[in-house]
Order: sequence, then C-alpha cells, then structure tokens
Amino acid sequence: MVFYFTGTGNSLYIAKELESTPISIPQIMGREDFTFTADRIGIVCPIYGHEMPAMVKEFLQKAVFHTDYFYVVLTYGNRHANAVELADAAIERAGKRADYITTLLMVDNFLPAFDMEEQESLDKRVEEQLASIRSDIWAKKAGRQTVTAEDREAHRQYVERVKGQPETIWASYLVTDACIGCGICTRVCPAGCIRLAHQKAVHMLERCQACMACIHACPKLAMMLAPPMREPNPRARYRNRHVSLTELVAANDQTDIASIL
Ligand SMILES: Cc1cc2nc3c(=O)[nH]c(=O)nc-3n(C[C@H](O)[C@H](O)[C@H](O)COP(=O)(O)O)c2cc1C
Ligand code: SF4
Ligand code: SF4
Repeated sequence: MVFYFTGTGNSLYIAKELESTPISIPQIMGREDFTFTADRIGIVCPIYGHEMPAMVKEFLQKAVFHTDYFYVVLTYGNRHANAVELADAAIERAGKRADYITTLLMVDNFLPAFDMEEQESLDKRVEEQLASIRSDIWAKKAGRQTVTAEDREAHRQYVERVKGQPETIWASYLVTDACIGCGICTRVCPAGCIRLAHQKAVHMLERCQACMACIHACPKLAMMLAPPMREPNPRARYRNRHVSLTELVAANDQTDIASIL
C-alpha cells in the first residue's frame, strides 16, 4: 500500500512504479477512518523547502498504520539538504517511526528557479535510482539516507534566506487575460483552492500547498507567479511524461464539476 501527494506527476509516477494501486492523499483526507493495514506501507511525495507538503504532514498526524514496514520516498529536483531528517522528525511528531527514508532526484518543478525545458533535457538517472530504491523496499531494507553536516548547513542557509519573506511567497499567482475558463487548474488542485468566477480562475491562498500544479497544467500559460517572483522561462511548463492529465485530475480533483476532459 502506498500513499502519494503530487503536483506535477513525479511522485505519482514513482508511487505507480512501487505498488499497483497507489492512493492519493488529497482524495482520502475527507474520510473518517484513517486506519490502514498492509504488509508494507509507504508514502511518496515531493519536498518543498526540504520539507514534506503540509497536507502530507496532516495525513501523517491522522493516520494509523498497521504494518511491518513503513517507508518514505521524497522526490526532489535540485537539493534535498536534510530532508530525510526533517521528514523523520515530522513522522516522529505524528507518533510513528519509519523503517526506511530516502530521496529521489527528478525534474525540478520549482518555477522561480528553473526553466522546465532545460530541466527536462537533463538526465537525472531516475530509472536507476528507482530500481535501487524498489529493490530496497521490496526487500524491506531498513535505514535512512545519510544526512551530512553540509546538508544541514544548506537547510540552515535556506531558512536564513527565506526569513522575513511572507509565508505565501511561493503561492502568490497571477491569472492573465489569456485564461479561457477551462477549469483545468481547478481540477488539478489537491487542496480545492481555485475556483472560476466569470469564466476566469481565481486563486485562494487558504490551504494552498504551493505545489504549482495549477500553473504547470494551464494549457494557455495564463497562470504565473506574481511579482516580485520571476520565472526564468514563463513559457515552459511541466508534467511527468508517465502521468496523463486525466491521472493528475483523478489524483487531485476536489471539485464536483462534471468532467471537462
Ligand atoms: C514550492 C516548491 C518548493 C520546492 N522545494 C524544493 C527543494 O527545497 N529542494 C528540491 O530539490 N526541490 C524542490 N522542489 C522541487 C520538487 O520537490 C520536485 O520537482 C518534485 O519531484 C515534484 O514532485 P511532483 O511532480 O510529484 O509534484 C520544490 C518545488 C516546489 C513547487
Ligand atoms: S487552466 Fe488556465 S485557462 Fe484554464 S481556467 Fe485555469 S488559468 Fe484559466
Ligand atoms: S492553488 Fe495551485 S499551488 Fe495551490 S494547492 Fe492548488 S494547485 Fe497547488
């Protein structure tokens, strides 16, 4: 059994490769029973500022796992820093203990820093990493990826850099006149924080996970980061090539609008 959270499909792709029917965390947050029993239970999610998404931490607080083996795979795009340690601490705060925690380098979907065209042209050896992690997990290997003093320092410097910036800095978005009101952004949002008003998308900050799924999925490039944030390439967007838009909608849709796809 594997649970996942995804904005642009990386974590869903990995979850699909690890277990046959991955379960979307956004789709089960509304349920009453959070008890899960399986021979092995895992979580696959991205890191944001080296940490698991807020919704994943919330899920961990609610969930009760009956299992012999609990594993966590953190997908990232550039620098994991001490993400393994930070995840370990969040899991401990949720009253659990992971048997295995690791990271997996993929395309970095963080638009303020990266050009998606360039990211997609890099060979990050995803399949190699996946094969090694899968064999660890299937063998129920215990352990954690090593965290170095340099990794901790990278996180400390990051925290220092973002200190004083508004918490919402990564989640302030613009919708331009190019918006055609298609509603795709509303349906790839795992937190239900985009609605349509007068055929135009409106982003609500409350509950926003900063996953950037909405911006990446817009077919008209009508969503972008609001100033002062700037994008190296506002014309390039990303979705993992092993994940269809329909799968992303099934993973994240919190609306009850009739199918638009
Ligand atoms: C708001 C935000 C913050 C991010 N922070 C980091 C980070 O600290 N380090 C890193 O290497 N990647 C970071 N990333 C990149 C994602 O972790 C990475 O692309 C991940 O694989 C995306 O997974 P998904 O496609 O399942 O959403 C960040 C992405 C976003 C949107
Ligand atoms: S996906 Fe783009 S075009 Fe469609 S409603 Fe959202 S912002 Fe508008
Ligand atoms: S509004 Fe966009 S960034 Fe925020 S949770 Fe929804 S899809 Fe993710």
